[in-house]
Amino acid sequence: MLYTHFLKPLLFKFDPEVVHDFFVSCGEFFGTNPVTRGLIGFVYGYHGRDISKTIDGITYRTPFLLSAGFDYNGRLSRILSHIGFGGEEVGSVTARACEGNAKPRLTRLLESKSILVNKGLRNEGVDAIIARLKRRGVHSTKKRSFVVGVSIARTNDAQSVPIQAGIEDYVYSFKRLNEEGVGDYYTINISCPNAFGGESFSEPQLLERLLSALATIPCSKPVYIKMPINLPWDNFNALLKVIVAHKLKGVVIGNLNKDYSWLDVREEAPVAYKGGLSGKPCTHLSTDLIYKTREVYGKSLTIIGVGGVMSPETAKEKFDAGADLVQLISGMIFEGPGLVKKLAQSYSKKK
Ligand SMILES: Cc1cc2nc3c(=O)[nH]c(=O)nc-3n(C[C@H](O)[C@H](O)[C@H](O)COP(=O)(O)O)c2cc1C
Repeated sequence: MLYTHFLKPLLFKFDPEVVHDFFVSCGEFFGTNPVTRGLIGFVYGYHGRDISKTIDGITYRTPFLLSAGFDYNGRLSRILSHIGFGGEEVGSVTARACEGNAKPRLTRLLESKSILVNKGLRNEGVDAIIARLKRRGVHSTKKRSFVVGVSIARTNDAQSVPIQAGIEDYVYSFKRLNEEGVGDYYTINISCPNAFGGESFSEPQLLERLLSALATIPCSKPVYIKMPINLPWDNFNALLKVIVAHKLKGVVIGNLNKDYSWLDVREEAPVAYKGGLSGKPCTHLSTDLIYKTREVYGKSLTIIGVGGVMSPETAKEKFDAGADLVQLISGMIFEGPGLVKKLAQSYSKKK
């Protein structure tokens, strides 16, 4: 109520990236202090019965995670568990720091309940983010109740566009994270729709080369692949076959929707706009791919479901389709941080 009736109408008058940065700064500040953490937890925390879930050896206090792209520099790990999240995916991080694409990088599409994202992997680079997460105790020697996965993408610049350079870019980040023991799991983001050089690694032969290179790095953590959602099933399945052949743990389904015809109000994003759509336009495509993946691969792949989780009902659709865990960003932006607690409460009743 407080968010949707009072805060949201005010916040939505400002540039989305300014609001995003403001929220991250507030969240980081609240996370530093036990009093603010306690207060936030009192209002927004999940205090119901045990709904923890263990997936690939990692226990999540709730099966809801903040998806990659919100906390791209790893600043929120101390506050998110206090608003009902069981984990988060930091990043996507890249080998070198990225400024991001030219502004506007985020555009709200209010009627269609979506954000047009043209962020271009803005982040401080893997080494700076490793240092921050280590300062905050997010490395493997410490026992923590909040799961921090790290999403890895290719640096968004011309230098990493040639295929071999792109592979080395991913390998650098993956190696550094493993060396430093930072990250409870890793997601390889092959499907960022708004980066230099496009989504080259969402072709089976190139994914094969990338995964072979990553396999040379010792890694004891689960590794997932962040999937594109605009591929026809046969092409999507061709990627899954490569992932299964490399014995990876699973997939995150999936990334932003590149097809603007999925908007409720098409005019909200003229063709000249750049970027991928989050939120409601992702719901159907991602749920359908989760369902098909579960049907074909059974329990052999972990599935993290993401895309258009805006309510307990849409979260339930993801679990019913076969998701083991659910991630979200846009639902929290449109419905407020209280949504996560609502999702957890509703899940606890149906479990
Ligand atoms: C502002 C923003 C930035 C994003 N950046 C990333 C990113 O860096 N890496 C990534 O894998 N996905 C990124 N995404 C995609 C989300 O992780 C997610 O897959 C997508 O938004 C669908 O989920 P949602 O409907 O709950 O927002 C981003 C999404 C948003 C809204």
